[in-house]
Amino acid sequence: MSTLFTPLKLRSLQIPNRVWMSPMCMYSAAPTGPETGAPTDFHLTHLASRAAGGAGLVMAEATGVRPDGRISPWDLGLWNDRQQEAFARITQAIKAYGAVPAIQLAHAGRKASVDKPWLSDRYLSEAEGGWQTVAPSPEPYQGLPVPHELTVDEIQQLVRDFAASAKRALAAGFQVAEVHGAHGYLINSFLSPVSNHRTDAYGGSFENRIRFALEVVDAVRAVWPAELPVFFRTSATDWLTENPEDEREGWTGEDTVRLAKELTAHGVDLLDVSTGGMVRDAKIVAGPNYQVPFAAQAREAAGIPTAAIGLILEPAQAEEIVATGQADAVMLGRQLLREPSWAHRAAAELGEEPRWPEQYGYAVVRRSKSKKG
Ligand SMILES: Cc1cc2nc3c(=O)[nH]c(=O)nc-3n(C[C@H](O)[C@H](O)[C@H](O)COP(=O)(O)O)c2cc1C
Repeated sequence: MSTLFTPLKLRSLQIPNRVWMSPMCMYSAAPTGPETGAPTDFHLTHLASRAAGGAGLVMAEATGVRPDGRISPWDLGLWNDRQQEAFARITQAIKAYGAVPAIQLAHAGRKASVDKPWLSDRYLSEAEGGWQTVAPSPEPYQGLPVPHELTVDEIQQLVRDFAASAKRALAAGFQVAEVHGAHGYLINSFLSPVSNHRTDAYGGSFENRIRFALEVVDAVRAVWPAELPVFFRTSATDWLTENPEDEREGWTGEDTVRLAKELTAHGVDLLDVSTGGMVRDAKIVAGPNYQVPFAAQAREAAGIPTAAIGLILEPAQAEEIVATGQADAVMLGRQLLREPSWAHRAAAELGEEPRWPEQYGYAVVRRSKSKKG
């Protein structure tokens, strides 16, 4: 029996298998008007088809907790009734296929207000539908403008914004809320010494740099039911300290272990372990499983369940990651874009019965065995 297709229980939530869809921005929501930030038929198809394809958990992309928290003007958002209503249609569809609907709640901080990536990677001015970005310190991400340095009152408001969005996510039917603490976006930019130069309670020492992340987690936990899990996506390393040729001191795998212990104490149930995104010029050697050691390190040293991500492409590869205890689940991004039914193929290759929707199952399983084809 494969470990990949064993259910995972977190709090009272039973997740049917350990093949999960990683959050991926689609830059496809309306940028202005009454439908701003609301998921569309495209998002419904995009997410529901991966649930039909057998993923045990399907996570909606980075969703802005407020307008200036979106990465681009075309990102999803969750700050009003219309967006909540449109998300409810999506959670119903995901559940109808037996998968768990999850959402990544996000604020893009100093990396916000940019173009659709297939058009350019440049900042969009207010005249082009963009906005003033914010960050812990007035330190720009390379190629983007200087962000506004957040005041303590503004930080407190952001914490409330995350909680308000989480409340709406629950009302829309999501069963997992993930706090986006990775990839150089707002929470990550508080954590890392590369981007946080504050001298108040939110900067300086490790304890101060993780304060905002923990306050957001506490606020989300306070509105999220005790029987449902909260996840945190982290960039386990900035890929600076590990590089002997780079003099910059960044966030490291050891910092992630320390953070993971705190997150557990604050009610986080799973660490979703990514890396990078803090600086544009970090040297990252990406290959199959390249981020898995960080998930294994946090799981081992902090005792927190983890999800591993990054170039996980083959069923046997995914099975080995979970069967050897390096992570509790795998998240797939681009491979699920290429192959929405990857989980069904993986189940078959690992000797399990694929749980196709009945409309497909009788045809692909039985008919493929018959000579009639
Ligand atoms: C098109 C695209 C959009 C993405 N958007 C997000 C996002 O919204 N939130 C996030 O945490 N990561 C995002 N990522 C990163 C993925 O979730 C994933 O971690 C990364 O692609 C590595 O996994 P993979 O090799 O399986 O694709 C995105 C990646 C892609 C390719």
